[in-house]
Order: sequence, then structure tokens, then C-alpha cells
Amino acid sequence: MTAPLKVGLAGLGTVGSSVVHLLASGRDKLVARCGRGIEIVAVCARSRGKQRNVDLKKYRWVADPVDLARDPSIDVLVEVIGGADDPAKSAVETALSCGKSVVTANKALLARHGQRLAALAERHGAALNFEASVGGGVPIIKTLREGLNGDSFTRLYGILNGTCNYILTRMEQDRLAFADCLREAQRLGYAEADPSFDVEGHDTAQKLSILASLAFGTKLDPRAVYVEGIASISLADLDAADELGYRVKLLGVAVKTEGGIEQRVHPTMVPKESAIAQVMGVTNAVTVDAAGLSPITLVGPGAGGMATASAVVSDLADIARGVRNAPFGRPVAAMMATRKAPMQHHEGGYYIRLLARDRPGTAATIARRLAQQKISLESIVQRHGIAPQGPSPSGRSGGPVPVIMITYATSEDAVRRALSAVRRDRVIFGQPQVIRIEKN
Ligand SMILES: NC(=O)c1ccc[n+]([C@@H]2O[C@H](COP(=O)([O-])OP(=O)(O)OC[C@H]3O[C@@H](n4cnc5c(N)ncnc54)[C@H](OP(=O)(O)O)[C@@H]3O)[C@@H](O)[C@H]2O)c1
Repeated sequence: MTAPLKVGLAGLGTVGSSVVHLLASGRDKLVARCGRGIEIVAVCARSRGKQRNVDLKKYRWVADPVDLARDPSIDVLVEVIGGADDPAKSAVETALSCGKSVVTANKALLARHGQRLAALAERHGAALNFEASVGGGVPIIKTLREGLNGDSFTRLYGILNGTCNYILTRMEQDRLAFADCLREAQRLGYAEADPSFDVEGHDTAQKLSILASLAFGTKLDPRAVYVEGIASISLADLDAADELGYRVKLLGVAVKTEGGIEQRVHPTMVPKESAIAQVMGVTNAVTVDAAGLSPITLVGPGAGGMATASAVVSDLADIARGVRNAPFGRPVAAMMATRKAPMQHHEGGYYIRLLARDRPGTAATIARRLAQQKISLESIVQRHGIAPQGPSPSGRSGGPVPVIMITYATSEDAVRRALSAVRRDRVIFGQPQVIRIEKN
């Protein structure tokens, strides 16, 4: 039998400690599957004295992740420290430069430095595997890189952040405000003390840039992603969505268009009957559209120690078997520069909720401004009707009346221009709410 694969584990937190558990409990199964064992030989974390729920006595302690990365006794570095900068970055670079393969769960590192790290892996004949970096236990990286390798992708979209999906689910099901659901998510450990990275969409954007690169063969560029978070979503939007046959999800969407690859993260209305609309709570899901193939949706746990560790161990098993895939599915030299499709050229349906001034002529003004931009409406809901004349139905002449509109496919530019004009006309109060619609 081949000698066991020797692992250096950098990081013993939520994911790292679960990797220790999973490698111990799955030892025999892994030997049967890989034809050799996978053994941790050395570990590293920030604080040696910290109480942990794993027994580390058998493993050598190395104080510095970079020293662990170059340790001659290891074949593979597992990096589950996190963060785009050092020590994670220099540890991964060091391991790859020494020809040692790397398994990482670190989306921040990959989104920022993935291109360079893939080149380093290629140059030194090492594997760089990162199944755990997107979708936790959902094998979306393998699906794009290997399972659908022969296919031509047209679009992928997904729920890539469990915190946001939990918040939107609780808002919808329990009729709670965004702030209350966020507090609850923090209490349950689903959201960080500083939740901005998640709720503003940046976590989803990092993951989307990794998936887009795998699907479309482009260089990673998180700056090419248009990002909007979920903080502006209100119960009024969720109610209206429900009434109109939609559900609101924070989606990461990457689409091949004539103008390039459109990458965007924003609250999105999805048809209630779509697979992605059924995904509730902290669960993640990704739908992949490829030419000649019905859409495929993968659903599963997007985070949590054991789910994420399962992806890490699966990556280790590949390395133990001698499988070496190009990190982003093709040689680095064949990865194309990202041609960013500008967001103002985005085309699709839109949900618009605005507070119209209840006075004669308002409806006609809004209709005219939409028509000037060639926007046609699929539906319009006026909560109290706008009075053509006479007393206001809201009881206050000129008072606010909610109006909800769903447009047929139009461009982002057209919607923005029409709404700016309507604001200048002073027939609405405040900023209209706009949510893009993604059809299946
Ligand atoms: N948690 C999840 O569900 C999940 C899901 C998917 C992907 N990920 C990714 O997995 C990675 C790890 O996440 P996690 O949740 O396990 O993080 P975590 O619980 O915060 O653990 C981080 C580990 O890194 C160690 N560490 C931090 N700074 C260090 C340093 N300077 N030198 C050596 N060790 C250091 C910490 O040491 P101490 O223990 O001594 O503090 C800790 O053991 C991140 O990239 C994350 O994005 C996590």
C-alpha cells in the first residue's frame, strides 16, 4: 500500500477541528476509497493553550503557519485560518512554492489572489483545491470544474450566503423586520458581530467571482461584481412579492451576455415555483444553466464545521488518489481577461415599489415617464388607487399611496432614467424600491 498522505493543518477553529474529527472517524473508509490513508501529522493555530473539542496530543504543534507550510514532513497543507492576507496567504504561497498541494476553504484569499496562486500551483506541479470555499458542503466547484466540464455555461445563480437567506426567510415566515432578524441571526451564531460583509453582499460577491471564473474561464476579478445588500428589503416588498408570485432572495448571478460576463449580487425576485425559491434558512443553493442541458440545482448546507470539513476531506481524498485538476478548470494561460458587462446594460424584469403623491395627474405622469423609456408593465398594484380628482382615498390630499409595478424585460438604464424623471416631477415621495427579477 502507498504511504499515507501527510497533512499539515493550519487552523483549528470551526472548520479545522471538524477536519480533525472527520479524518479520524472516516479513516478506514478513506483508505478503502483512496488506496492509502490520510493522516494529520502537524497542526497550527494562534493560541496553543486554547481549550478545543479535539484531542491534539498525537499531532506535532508548529507555532507559525509558514513554518508548517514548508515542513518537510507534510505532503499537503490544509489552510483553514481565513482572510485574504497573511498568514494564510504566505502559508499557501510557501506550500505551493515547495511543490506541496494545498486545500483551502478561504474564499477571500482565492477571490483576491486566486489567479496568482493557481499559477504557482501549476508551476510547481501541486494541486490547489478549494471545494469548501463556496457553498460549504455543496460540491459546486467539482460540478463546474469536472462534472460539467464539457458543457458551455450560459448562466449560474445561487444563494451563497446562509446568513442573508436566514434573515429573508425569517422576515417572510415570521413577519419580522430586517433588524430583528439580524439580531436573531447573531444570537444563533449565524451572523457575525459585524454583519456588514454578509448583509451588504460582499461575501456572496467573493464566492460568485470564484464560480464565474470556473464557469466562464475568466480571470478572477471581484471588482467586476456589482453588489447590493439586503438591508433595504422591507416586509412590504416580501408581501408584494408573495402576492405577485415571487420570493425575494439575495442571489449571486453570473451571465454570459454579448457585452461580456455580467456578475451581480443583489436582492432578487425569483418565481415562487423555482427550485431556488424553495431554499430556506441557512441553506445554500446554486442553479447552473448550460447549453442543451436543463438547469441543474445543487442544494445543501453552505456552512458549519462538519459540512465544510466534508468538502475539505473530499479535496484531500483527490490528492491522495493522485488527481490533479487545474485549479480553475483550465491552464492559467488560457484564463481570459474578464470583460465586465456594465450593470446599466443589464436587461430583465423589474419590481418597482414607490409612494405616489395622491393627487390628480400622478398616474398619468408616471405612465408617461415609463413610456418615454419604452418600459411596459406586466402588472401594477395600487394599494388605494390614485384619485383622478376629488378627495384623496388616503384621507389627505397629496398624501402617499403605495404603487407596485412589475415591468416586462427592459434595461437597467431605462429604469433608472424613468425613476429619476418621476422624482424630478415630484409625484412620488422618497426613493423608489427597485428589485431585479430573475426568471428560471
Ligand atoms: N465556518 C464555516 O462554516 C465556514 C464555511 C465555509 C468556509 N469557511 C472558511 O474556512 C476558513 C476557516 O473558518 P473558521 O470558521 O473555521 O474560522 P475560525 O473558527 O475563526 O478558525 C480560525 C482558526 O485559525 C487560527 N488562526 C487565526 N489566526 C492565526 C494565525 N495568525 N496563526 C495561526 N493560526 C491562526 C485560529 O486559531 P485559534 O483557534 O488559536 O484562535 C483558529 O483556529 C475561513 O477561510 C472561512 O471563510 C468557513
